[in-house]
Amino acid sequence: MPSSKMVPANGKISIAPSLLSADLFDLKQDIRRVEEAGADWLHVDVMDGNFVPNLSFGPALVASLNGRTKLPLDVHLMVQEPARFVESFAKAGADVITIHLEARDNVRATLEKIKALGVFAGVSIKPDTKPQALAPYMDLLDLILVMSVYPGFGGQAFLPGSPEQIQGVREVIRQSGRPVWLEVDGGINKDTAALAARAGADALVAGSAIFKAADPVLALKQIRQAASDI
Ligand code: DX5
Ligand code: ZN
Repeated sequence: MPSSKMVPANGKISIAPSLLSADLFDLKQDIRRVEEAGADWLHVDVMDGNFVPNLSFGPALVASLNGRTKLPLDVHLMVQEPARFVESFAKAGADVITIHLEARDNVRATLEKIKALGVFAGVSIKPDTKPQALAPYMDLLDLILVMSVYPGFGGQAFLPGSPEQIQGVREVIRQSGRPVWLEVDGGINKDTAALAARAGADALVAGSAIFKAADPVLALKQIRQAASDI
């Protein structure tokens, strides 16, 4: 079962490099670099040009990674109708499938579908969505992805309201009494990693701060260090 790979790294923060900022001509080399640097998951951003004003990857990319890397594949669906696509991403080898609370499809039914496929189920919230809106789904969730930028593009700045948003989600998780991952996505670098970790994140996505750095291995290690020194 794919989701058995998602083991909490014993108190250590998990780092998920986002392939959106990788060099697609040299994707293999970029993936080997972050594996060597100790990345925990690979984050795959899926955009439909509708839920967000951009296009990116589909199930074919996930299928091409499946079996070629030991890292769990963390698939973030920024799409208006995720229910149509969850099966193809599960078959392609996704370990986590995260949908947006703000998307058009029925959230509960889509999460049930993801779980029935044997994949970890996640929900993401945009910066203006209140953490309390997650409460009705806590029984089904394995992961919550807090957006610390408005989704759609890599390379944006971490929004100043994000720590408060992360704390709010942490409180919703605490009240549920369930073991749910809290992942934060957008504008994570060695400065903002500490803010997110201090607010309660246990996994961080980072795209441009890793792959656009002169030394991606060093950049990943600095992010992890900053998030551990809190
Ligand atoms: C934004 C995506 C992010 C993005 C993060 O819509 O969901 O995963 O790749 O990129 P950085 O780390 O550059 O903000
Ligand atoms: Zn993402």
